[in-house]
Amino acid sequence: MPNMTDDKQMTAPQITRSQSLVMGNWKMNGSISFNNQLLNEIVAGVVSVSAANMTAQLVVCVPAPYLAQAQGRLAETPVQWGAQDVSVHAKGAYTGEVSASMLTDFGCCWVLVGHSERRTLHAESDELVAQKAQAALSAGLTPVVCVGESLQERDAGLAEAVIKRQLAPVLALGPDAVKRMVVAYEPVWAIGTGRTASAQQAQDIHAVIRRLLPSSDHTPVLYGGSVKPDNAKTLFAMPDIDGGLIGGASLVATDFLAIASQ
Ligand code: PGA
Repeated sequence: MPNMTDDKQMTAPQITRSQSLVMGNWKMNGSISFNNQLLNEIVAGVVSVSAANMTAQLVVCVPAPYLAQAQGRLAETPVQWGAQDVSVHAKGAYTGEVSASMLTDFGCCWVLVGHSERRTLHAESDELVAQKAQAALSAGLTPVVCVGESLQERDAGLAEAVIKRQLAPVLALGPDAVKRMVVAYEPVWAIGTGRTASAQQAQDIHAVIRRLLPSSDHTPVLYGGSVKPDNAKTLFAMPDIDGGLIGGASLVATDFLAIASQ
């Protein structure tokens, strides 16, 4: 019979919407010295801003080789760290892949799955993304499932249908699994383009996603796509937007902190 400790390690916690979540996605950027400086600035900022009321939980999702660096620098700080992808396999002959248990070995709690760059550049299917979410959950990691339509799909009036199709195999994992995840809505046409969805456009899709989810208290839904200090406030004020997934602006400590302080 497994003991309680093992059980606990193998189950990701339920995640509530009570605290907003601001996650940085560094993508394939950084170096040991760049990361040191960025993490130092973020930690210093969080410590000084918390006095002035930073309510968001901050997480940085770093490239795999820098997980140990993030673990070392962020231990005993309020900033958490995560990975950007995970294998569906537990171990074996999968050259180049990283398993969920390897991530938890670092004390990692978060992992992005199904980012549009993985879906597009690595042909990840909706089903594979759901399998990755399941692999993460089974190891005790909180998966952040990214969904979003392309410009062509939006222009064809298919935005909602695409989101529903992408989420279907994830929702099929069951309500208990879904309460242990985060969903990030990232319209592909807004990623790295400087073109943000208007707060209303984002809210409309977030409301669609919210209606599909099993609980109004769990499964935060983040918005991502060219979030900057000057648009974060309006986006985060929308009722179904629970925080942000930040790419480019998460590489600049002052911008990341400003976004998280909205
Ligand atoms: P961006 O990226 O903020 O640079 O648009 C967001 C993302 O891809 O997660």
